[in-house]
Amino acid sequence: MPVTIARPRTLRGEIIAPGDKSVSHRAIMFNALSHTGTARITNFSPGADCTSTVGIMRALGVEITRESGQNGMGDSLTVKGVGLNGLREPADILDAGNSGTTTRLMSGILAGRDIVTILTGDDSLKTRPMGRVVEPLRKMGAKITGRAGGNLAPLVFHGGSLKGTKYEMPVASAQLKSCLLLAGLRANGITTLTQPAESRDHTERMFSAMGVKLAKSGLDLTLEPSELETVDIEVPGDISSAAFWMVAGVCHPDAELLIRNVGTNPTRAGIITALQQMGANLTLIDEREVAGEPVADILVKSSQLKAIELSGDIVPLLIDEIPVIAVAAALAEGTTVIRDAAELRVKESDRIRASISWLKGAGIDAEATDDGMIVPGTGSIRGGQFQSYDDHRLAMSLGIAGLVSDGPITILDPEVAGISYPGFWESIEGLGGLVG
Ligand code: S3P
Repeated sequence: MPVTIARPRTLRGEIIAPGDKSVSHRAIMFNALSHTGTARITNFSPGADCTSTVGIMRALGVEITRESGQNGMGDSLTVKGVGLNGLREPADILDAGNSGTTTRLMSGILAGRDIVTILTGDDSLKTRPMGRVVEPLRKMGAKITGRAGGNLAPLVFHGGSLKGTKYEMPVASAQLKSCLLLAGLRANGITTLTQPAESRDHTERMFSAMGVKLAKSGLDLTLEPSELETVDIEVPGDISSAAFWMVAGVCHPDAELLIRNVGTNPTRAGIITALQQMGANLTLIDEREVAGEPVADILVKSSQLKAIELSGDIVPLLIDEIPVIAVAAALAEGTTVIRDAAELRVKESDRIRASISWLKGAGIDAEATDDGMIVPGTGSIRGGQFQSYDDHRLAMSLGIAGLVSDGPITILDPEVAGISYPGFWESIEGLGGLVG
């Protein structure tokens, strides 16, 4: 059912960021492969994507329990490790739903095993490029087939035996990196990856905590085949979810929002850097460490924003936040230019096309480029009715646009927010923005 969001007179409150999606996927997958016991994972992401990962691991014979969290925290799970070679052949096709992370990381887990598995997902997932993982996994010895020569799911993993590889990654993708490191755990010999730029490093951090022999030199990673030791993980809050409130707070004319428990890992914190460069009144409070990841509370207040240029190495550090940065850009003084972000075209939707489509409809003369967008800051966003193209981050960006726009914004397909952030619309309601 559509929802309509309008700008409340003031925007004040406290929000607890839900558990991080990237860390939650990894906490389940890696502990499932551990050989030393049962791990407890707290503040697990409530989103449907991570539930897809749990479903797949259960189908592969991993025992996972799940209990509701208390006091605004996410669910608590236990995962009993089966060891690197303990996964069971599933009775059916494995369904990753909308989750690219599940598909690409599981590809590294399923490659080169003596069981046959088929991995698929929803209509969006079946359009996303999988050749980037299939091709290097084949080079390592995995037998994989799939639609479009193995570039599109469903993917079928037929076995093979894995050998280490030296691979120059063509894209700065944490999903690709993690996939190959997961395959490398069971390979014969060493796996070396060269990255074109830094991307989120949750896999490296968790592998190190689990005793994996992984060395980093500049942008190169070298992994020796290793067993994983179980670790309990308290999942930090998701900066990609917190980003929506950061933008709402800095764009609304009378705002003060405290966002609690935000993971501030530098490989994810590009949004903080970008907003600060735009002149955001944004303060990190009570900086601490949770399960090897930096965490802080973030206070945001109304700000006079100016345009920026986003390109190069910062782009992978805020890639998921670009749809909501477009909202801030529309209200900033000057023209914001985003480059080197062609990856946006192959996310849950073509996020360049989808962002430009709503911006134009809201009176902003934004322009798509091959690898980014140009957004003139008009200082005001007109209302309207828009669709998210089945993309959770687009739906939530539109919700934030509604909180800071001149006229109400109706989002025709809001349910998709549940992919990463099921409580999102309730939080908008709590801030007084939901009008229908
Ligand atoms: C993710 C990596 C990013 C990001 C995605 C989650 C991860 O994708 O967009 O939402 O958890 O590894 P890429 O690695 O394809 O850039």
